[in-house]
Amino acid sequence: MRKPLVMGNWKLNGTKQSVSDLIKAFVEPANRTAGKVDVAICAPAIFIGTVESLAKGSSLQYGSEDCDIHTKGAFTGENSPEMIKEFGCTYAIVGHSERRGYHNESNEYVAQKFKAALDSGLVPVLCVGESEAEYDAGKTMEVVNAEIKAVIDLCGIDSFKNAVIAYEPIWAIGTGKTATPEVAQNVHRQIRDFLKTFSSEVADGTRILYGGSCNAKTAPELFSQADIDGGLIGGASLKAPDFTAIIAAAEANA
Ligand code: 13P
Repeated sequence: MRKPLVMGNWKLNGTKQSVSDLIKAFVEPANRTAGKVDVAICAPAIFIGTVESLAKGSSLQYGSEDCDIHTKGAFTGENSPEMIKEFGCTYAIVGHSERRGYHNESNEYVAQKFKAALDSGLVPVLCVGESEAEYDAGKTMEVVNAEIKAVIDLCGIDSFKNAVIAYEPIWAIGTGKTATPEVAQNVHRQIRDFLKTFSSEVADGTRILYGGSCNAKTAPELFSQADIDGGLIGGASLKAPDFTAIIAAAEANA
């Protein structure tokens, strides 16, 4: 049985005040649902120390929005997985479409980030997803499977025993155009089928989150789909009542 995971991705948002307000608001629902749902927030690196002190002793998990492939050295501006781990993070998002797009991160480079996170004891959250043009051209699974295959080639299929996949269609991110539950479920099932060609055990155990304009309204039906194991939430994770309602939707389907 896969335990649902509801993860916020704050992206480039937040102030000292909002970080404090939101983390305090999320500790209670995270504690209340801890037996049934994992709740996590991925914050900008500069706020992770604050998140650590506010979440201490609670069931609220947290992570980084990215990580570097190196452990240390002359890489100005980067954060190593070891640094992220030292601040008590459980997760590191890798390969978000905004990183792939704005920073030209290739599938192979993202796989290296995945490996670096895993090697440091973090749980990588591998984001995959197609553009609108690729969706229209019927290339969704070609794109998504290639993004996953690059990780399998570098790290092996068993690496997904300690990882999470997030399917985030780029056309749905921040657009208000949530994928319908049927469209999302269909892709999630095909991702699981692809994993199954390497290992049934891994396919059955891997959590696959949906992300892309997932909100308090759309979460209940999305989370009721057989192969959707929770959500990676952008905008709605910046609003306490919305994110709390999304946690409740995951709890209802756990
Ligand atoms: P939105 O929920 O704002 O569409 O963002 C989704 C996302 O990119 C999460 O990583």
